[in-house]
Amino acid sequence: MSSHLITGIGQLVTNDLEHDAAAGVERLGLLHDAAVRVVDGLVDWVGPAADAPEADSVTDAAGAALIPGFVDSHTHIVFGGDRSAEFEARMSGQAYSAGGIRSTVAATRAASDDELRTRLAGFMTELHAQGSTTIEVKSGYGLTVDDEARMLRLAAEVTDEVTFLGAHVVPAEFAGRGDDYVDLVVGDMLDACAPHAKWVDVFCETGAFTPEQSRRVLEAGAARGLGVRVHASQLGPGVGVQLAIELGAAAVDHCTFLTDDDVTALGAFDTVATLLPGVEFSTKQPYPDARRLLEAGATVALASDCNPGSSFTSSMPFCIAVAVRDMGMTPAEALWSSTAGGARALRRTDVGRVVVGARADLVQLKAPSYVHLAYRPGVPLVDRVWKDGVLVSG
Ligand code: NIG
Ligand code: FE
Repeated sequence: MSSHLITGIGQLVTNDLEHDAAAGVERLGLLHDAAVRVVDGLVDWVGPAADAPEADSVTDAAGAALIPGFVDSHTHIVFGGDRSAEFEARMSGQAYSAGGIRSTVAATRAASDDELRTRLAGFMTELHAQGSTTIEVKSGYGLTVDDEARMLRLAAEVTDEVTFLGAHVVPAEFAGRGDDYVDLVVGDMLDACAPHAKWVDVFCETGAFTPEQSRRVLEAGAARGLGVRVHASQLGPGVGVQLAIELGAAAVDHCTFLTDDDVTALGAFDTVATLLPGVEFSTKQPYPDARRLLEAGATVALASDCNPGSSFTSSMPFCIAVAVRDMGMTPAEALWSSTAGGARALRRTDVGRVVVGARADLVQLKAPSYVHLAYRPGVPLVDRVWKDGVLVSG
């Protein structure tokens, strides 16, 4: 049993409600002049540095802020190819469409396992270096039984949060035969994929899957024991949010074009609304209105949606900065949504908080306060990152 003490923490974000009253900042559970002891990968003690227990080794944060590792609950980082030309065209006025996914499908099918694995490992390193310690990874660029299964196997090599997204778009070989493709997804593809996944997801949107098709996919996944998550209301309003809530989804992601009924329902049920600021940044769409959701009582998460088409950023600090600047979130709300909110979106209680018994997933900032994540956009403020108590960056 080895112990490690991180002390000299100028500002500690615990997301522990017990600290709220003292902190005066809603939900973040701030402590000042604090220390955290880690034993065997778990947080074992949290409190004032002056009272810190002994440990085998010590890190002095020298007055810096320490926050929970970011929980990035939405990424698509197993893929081949590049779509920078599509991005460049969009910046000159071309609209984003779901069809762009097919060019990544072709490149992913053509890539070997080792090529995909090397690239995925690179993204994981990039994510860790920016403070993300829990990372969900989706399939969705294979769209054959074998290619979807191999994407999931590769994802499972790097994370436990693996999502089957065989219903990402109708592949070219099924053009005009969407229902036939859904037959494949709910049959042979799910048979091959469900053993490698924890979640099922669908892109319920014009140009992707209809509400009826989406329901079939989600119900089939749930029947095989997978948790439900949904991509909805990214490109326009639709019934995807209501479908997600009806099926008890852990999260519905994008939520860019919500009706009043959607917002009311998200406030009333525990399906998390996951907002993806990188998408609106990279597609020049209007940003989702986080304030409206928060005022309705919804639980809001922020995630990167790191993918080659709509949002090729792996940076949660970037997402926080945009959410604060353009989506009506306070810095405290954006930080909570990137950590505890992401944990709720993955139905996890062991991450996203610095409390006794939680995983020791911790980020030391090169800054005295979490506010700097939005206040100093684009500046690399992540100093040291521990995952399960092990230093993975810095
Ligand atoms: O979350 N919305 C669907 N899927 C991705 C985009 C994928 C792509 O364009 O390659 C998303 O934005
Ligand atoms: Fe996505």
